[in-house]
Amino acid sequence: MQYKNNGALPVTAPTLAQRFTGWPDLQQHQQRLQKTRLLDLFAQNPQRVNDCAIDAAGLHLDYSKNLIDKASLDTLVQLAQQAGLGKAIENLLNGSIVNNTEKRAALHTALRSPAPVIEAEAIADAFKRMGELVEKIHSGTWRGYSNNTITDVVNIGIGGSDLGPQMATHALKPFHTHPVRLHFVSNVDPSCLQDLLAHLDPSRTLFIVASKSFTTLETLQNAQAARRWLLASAPDESATARHFVAVSSAVQKAEKFGIQTANILPMWDWVGGRYSLWSAIGLPIALAVGMEHFNAMLAGAFAMDEHFRTAPLEKNMPVIMGLLGFWYQHFWQASTHVVLPYDHYLRFFPDYLQQLDMESNGKHVSRAGKDLPYPSGPVIWGAVGTNGQHSFHQLLHQGTHFIPADFIVTLQSHHKDCAEQHRHLLANGLAQSQALMCGKSLAQVEVELREQGLGEPDNQFLAPHKVISGNRPSNLIATVLLTPATLGALIALYEHKVYVQSVLWDINPFDQWGVELGKQLSGPIFDALSGNKSELDPSTIATIASYRSLSIK
Ligand code: F6P
Repeated sequence: MQYKNNGALPVTAPTLAQRFTGWPDLQQHQQRLQKTRLLDLFAQNPQRVNDCAIDAAGLHLDYSKNLIDKASLDTLVQLAQQAGLGKAIENLLNGSIVNNTEKRAALHTALRSPAPVIEAEAIADAFKRMGELVEKIHSGTWRGYSNNTITDVVNIGIGGSDLGPQMATHALKPFHTHPVRLHFVSNVDPSCLQDLLAHLDPSRTLFIVASKSFTTLETLQNAQAARRWLLASAPDESATARHFVAVSSAVQKAEKFGIQTANILPMWDWVGGRYSLWSAIGLPIALAVGMEHFNAMLAGAFAMDEHFRTAPLEKNMPVIMGLLGFWYQHFWQASTHVVLPYDHYLRFFPDYLQQLDMESNGKHVSRAGKDLPYPSGPVIWGAVGTNGQHSFHQLLHQGTHFIPADFIVTLQSHHKDCAEQHRHLLANGLAQSQALMCGKSLAQVEVELREQGLGEPDNQFLAPHKVISGNRPSNLIATVLLTPATLGALIALYEHKVYVQSVLWDINPFDQWGVELGKQLSGPIFDALSGNKSELDPSTIATIASYRSLSIK
């Protein structure tokens, strides 16, 4: 499948077949493998389960249920070498300007390194200040306007300033060390904030305004509404300083809002929004689990960084996952990838991954700005198991789309005396990956129906409906227990997988120009909705006219 962007750009980047000499070999591998059953690959190589496994940073990747064998994987690894992946990994980690459109490094890895390659002192100072803030709130030293302690913290942010902290705060629920309640407000829809505020006591609530730029409309609207709500109960404006902190690289803008300089934690332009949960943007996580566990999360991510840096490409977990996604995208017409965490605490992981992957690799031009003659990042989606099984898994098993899957499983539950119920969860996850692989043939279905006593004409009618083709690929990512360290490793694994794929596609994964247009256009539309003159297209003018005719205030 070739992606065409209506010829908008006159200059086209080289095709993947032009870039990679192994392309015809990969096409042949695909033709061979599409006639092969996954189960036959296990029969051909009794060592397959061991050969297709990687352990790193407390995670186990089993990629044996993929439509791949040694010859095809070797060719994919050669392709990665041809793409200069080894050097690209080095460039990412050493602080080279990998974000070439914004002329910046992407050094989120420095935040979790014991020896950061950039601004080591500033990073240490930021974490020290973050720890002090956490301690003040936990110990009750921080007081609100009526001298009450803080019971509720509301993180106001969107995109990377919301999804990562929210996902990790929920993922680490069993490690919450302090009874302070964490809430997340992102959407500009007033219902999002107002529904929450209805249950909160202003004198006991602290707001974190999390915005790298401190210009994001949604965040500023919510922050201003939160301040109005606070000041409606507080004796005077000075309450803002006692109920608002910020994480931002735009210190002056945060100060102007009324936040004290000492309560503004820094961010740097070399940390992208969707990679920022490792920075002070992770303050809600630290408030929930304490600095010790926050640091353990950083250490888990660092362990994955070290694996990514040092493991040979063919034994490198993010590299193998990146190559498999690339293989399916270009040779098996996969345009989406489903992520299925079988752990309640990871229920926000697919939402978080959507931004990480799609905002990074949803690009239409090469690093040099040339039109891509091939598809780039896939659509990422998913939901927590077993809920998805009673919803969209039907399509995974019998639909007509080819959808590779990642199953993420934890072997143990955090809850005492729940081992058996957790085993049901695990059994369901493993059963889904088994069903995707093995399916159920027509012959099997017919025998089953006959055994159930179904007569021949009915059997022949019903049997095709019950056939499951199988041979659908999946990865299994397992960890014994979801801890701060294994969560850190899991997030870093996906960050690096996304980077690997960006190198293969020769795109910049660290900018997000596509998000800007909607932001620019909403201003004039807001003006027109408010009754001011604006230059707009006829369709939007008509909608605005009907809005105004309804006199909605
Ligand atoms: O959605 C676009 C984006 O720029 C994201 O990359 C970022 O995470 C989000 O907006 C929030 O930005 P900020 O932290 O500057 O408010």
